[in-house]
Amino acid sequence: MKNILVLGAGGQIGSELVPYLRDIYGNDHVIATDISTEKRESIAGNGPFEALNALDGEAFNAIVKKYKIDTIFNLVALLSATGEKSPRLAWDVNIGALTNSLYIGKENGCAVFTPSSIGAFGKDTPKDKTPQDTLQRSNTTIYGVCKVTGELLSDYYFHRFGVDTRSVRFPGLISHVTLPGGGTTDYAVEIFYAATRDGAFTCNIQAGTYMDMMYMPDALDAVVRLMEADPTRLKHRNSFNIAAMSFDPEEIAAAIRRHLPSFRLSYDIDPVKQAIADSWPNSMDDTCAREEWGWAPKYDLPAMTREMLEKVGEKFTRSGKPLPL
Ligand code: SER
Repeated sequence: MKNILVLGAGGQIGSELVPYLRDIYGNDHVIATDISTEKRESIAGNGPFEALNALDGEAFNAIVKKYKIDTIFNLVALLSATGEKSPRLAWDVNIGALTNSLYIGKENGCAVFTPSSIGAFGKDTPKDKTPQDTLQRSNTTIYGVCKVTGELLSDYYFHRFGVDTRSVRFPGLISHVTLPGGGTTDYAVEIFYAATRDGAFTCNIQAGTYMDMMYMPDALDAVVRLMEADPTRLKHRNSFNIAAMSFDPEEIAAAIRRHLPSFRLSYDIDPVKQAIADSWPNSMDDTCAREEWGWAPKYDLPAMTREMLEKVGEKFTRSGKPLPL
């Protein structure tokens, strides 16, 4: 990777991936783009920024040519719960950004990374230690339909046109920089803000609901490790299961109580999110990622919890204001 384009740089992943890539590849070699110009200053940081609607193929192609881009990170997506409010919009945005990335990648000789998700699995998929290659009838959310489509289309572009497409199935991502928006796994981020601010949290996902989760530093490491992997070792491409920890609301609450013993957890279930969570795996088997490109997460539940409480606590102390929830 020499000249990298990041679409959706203002989102939960992009806001941390851009500085991470800039540290490795140099500020001027990582071009941040986002549809929102409002956050231009914070997104741009100390490197190039272009306002871009990824659905505008002409503008997208012009930026790829201008900066001689060789790698595209397509992070544009409406998440699972938001997608259910406007399925048509979710399809147009998620698939529009994907097809433009693949087509423009093909025309300009770029590698393309588009994240997939635990949402690419459906209610008929084996739930525990979900295998790498298994049934993927993810037809209960438009988000999942887009992810399965994205995996297939990305593999097609590799086999048919030789586009270097690679992807991981992200679990719920936990981070302290930018809040996720409208995902089913968001509770696992919100719980840290509420614990720090109020000492209590009302969870919209039921006790006993297990989902795979991952701390952002491991997610960033996964992306670069996969994109730098020797292609001759890759038997899979779109997309690799990656796992770091699996827990239910009670287990994350217990991990928080080791630091904040009086933390209280209650429940007010969101039926839409609960139905989505119930259709997703409890935990994925990530053996192929470990074998084919050396995936090895560093953070488990206790290590992630310790750091999240510390970082979110610092934010709270610094601002002196209530946290953004
Ligand atoms: N975090 C995502 C969501 O909840 C799953 O990939 O929608």
